Amino acid sequence: MTENNKKHIKIIKNGPYLVSSKIPLLKLKIKTDEIGYPYEWIEEKKYPDQEEYALCRCGHSQNKPYCDGSHEKVGFEGSETASKELYLDSAAKVEGPDLLLTDNYGLCDHVGFCNRAGGITENVMHSDNPEAKSRAIQIASNCNSGRFVVYNKETGNPIEPDFEPSIAVTEEPDKGVSGPLWVRGGIQIESSDGTVYESRNRATLCRCGKSLNKPYCDGTHIMAGFNDGDESLKR
Ligand code: FES
Repeated sequence: MTENNKKHIKIIKNGPYLVSSKIPLLKLKIKTDEIGYPYEWIEEKKYPDQEEYALCRCGHSQNKPYCDGSHEKVGFEGSETASKELYLDSAAKVEGPDLLLTDNYGLCDHVGFCNRAGGITENVMHSDNPEAKSRAIQIASNCNSGRFVVYNKETGNPIEPDFEPSIAVTEEPDKGVSGPLWVRGGIQIESSDGTVYESRNRATLCRCGKSLNKPYCDGTHIMAGFNDGDESLKR
């Protein structure tokens, strides 16, 4: 077992995410570019370190992001419907001159970084231009669901941000909603049935309770107007 695999999130049947091994928890908020497209993540706060904690998965806790037992009161139905297929097994490929892009649409959380500056595909297709290449890498790195991965075509290696294992509570003020939990740095996610999902550098877990692709976020929180009470969403 690698060091990162000891970092662990266990999904409780119709209940919360149980987080172990003192995984840092922080809050990140989207900052937009001058046109209004998501551009970067800004760190808003760090939560106090805890060896173990439970994060709300049903969207009803009065103590978000933590669980307060509300899932029992509301009769939360949290069945996991996501595929455990490996990322690359259902990813489309787009080949540009310097970069290769893989795209697994099934993981999309509709955060919207990929629409900036002409879109990620356009920038990959022009990746022999240093600016387009750097934009494509930046856009893919900010794609919190891990839908997009760019690869250096020369080495064949993925270009990933260097994340320490951590979980980010996300806020999307550009859409007026709270977003999913961004799981970073290869933390193992264990299903309520004891099987595990592919450990990846980036993944997003639903915390509004409404995703149709649980445990992953599928963007339903946007239509649902999910709001965890973050101050910036009230402005
Ligand atoms: S948080 Fe995105 S669908 Fe629930």
